[in-house]
Amino acid sequence: MSIFVMVQFRPLTDRPLGAHHASMSDHAVLFVCLGNICRSPLAEGLFRAAVEHRGLADRFSIDSCGTSGWHVGEPPDRRSVEVAGEYGVDISRQRSRQLVPTDFSDFQWLVAMDGSNERTLIDRAPSGSRARVVRFTSYVPGEAPADVPDPYYGGGRGFEVVYKLLERGCDALIDAILADETSAD
Ligand code: 4NP
Repeated sequence: MSIFVMVQFRPLTDRPLGAHHASMSDHAVLFVCLGNICRSPLAEGLFRAAVEHRGLADRFSIDSCGTSGWHVGEPPDRRSVEVAGEYGVDISRQRSRQLVPTDFSDFQWLVAMDGSNERTLIDRAPSGSRARVVRFTSYVPGEAPADVPDPYYGGGRGFEVVYKLLERGCDALIDAILADETSAD
């Protein structure tokens, strides 16, 4: 008796693009904060909306994570969900995850929300990592603070401040990524 096993190969391009296939799009961007429940989920949602608005969705893979694992599996903070919703962006289905070593090879751009996040990323980068570790505020045109301020222990107004700052920087960050020749190799 012979047994025939049929194996079906799918071309790579048929696969859905997502966080786990980040290396398959031209530009893979990971937003990073401490808890991945306040700032980086908002950054992910706003950046994705800006990318979609410009008709570039198929060229970007976008995700977010926290340097800590304190809130793994949780949805974004209610205040982040609310402020995003007020501007028509739904981030309610995101779930917190922690930074992992493969993020440094799956993503070309690791975008830190503040200086502390940036230092943690530099510390945790595997040797030989070619990922670009940058700080979000350096892309905000005009006067900008050095950090996207952590709103977790403040009131709802802090989330509005975060939203407005992120909104100001997203288009410039897209432009910088598109202009960077090393990000598409
Ligand atoms: P995020 O804000 O880093 O913007 O998500 C925080 C969320 C939680 C905590 C701190 C900051 N925490 O201490 O649990």
